[in-house]
Amino acid sequence: MPMLKIFVGTMYGGALDVAEQVTPLFEEAGYQVAIYDQPTLDDLTGSPTDLALFCVSTTGSGDYPGNIVPFVRELESQSPGLGTLRYGLIALGDSSYVDSYCGAGRSLDELLQGQGASRLGERLEVDAMETFMADDEALPWVEEWIEAQQLKVA
Ligand SMILES: Cc1cc2nc3c(=O)[nH]c(=O)nc-3n(C[C@H](O)[C@H](O)[C@H](O)COP(=O)(O)O)c2cc1C
Repeated sequence: MPMLKIFVGTMYGGALDVAEQVTPLFEEAGYQVAIYDQPTLDDLTGSPTDLALFCVSTTGSGDYPGNIVPFVRELESQSPGLGTLRYGLIALGDSSYVDSYCGAGRSLDELLQGQGASRLGERLEVDAMETFMADDEALPWVEEWIEAQQLKVA
């Protein structure tokens, strides 16, 4: 069974909640799912990753949540080369932070592509100003993502 890894960056648990809520959708699509809420680079590169999903909120002024900072630092310092990685990205943010809206998700997206990884489809940005529960937007988006990118394996 192919492995889908979900990497979470969260301050208050919203992005982790998204990861947990979308898990059954991937299981139904034929994947084994692992959620990393204290991710390290080894979680990504140390074992096969058929598909990855990043669920990342933003804190401070466009900053990464603390739990994903070690992962990002390792990615920046070790430049592993991610040419075979296919991923999706869900960024949680708040558009009242005009200059740093979804800053962490956008930066991570750039970082991953800089390492040669391929994002499948567009990034989802969930705006807390418009959507109280990020799941409400993330669940239909993931359903559509699986369909549009033909990710179903079962
Ligand atoms: C102290 C603080 C700083 C924030 N800074 C930003 C920011 O710079 N850009 C942004 O888009 N959202 C920002 N947000 C909004 C959060 O990213 C948003 O509420 C998100 O849904 C939180 O997700 P989480 O529960 O996974 O941490 C900030 C929220 C707080 C409380």
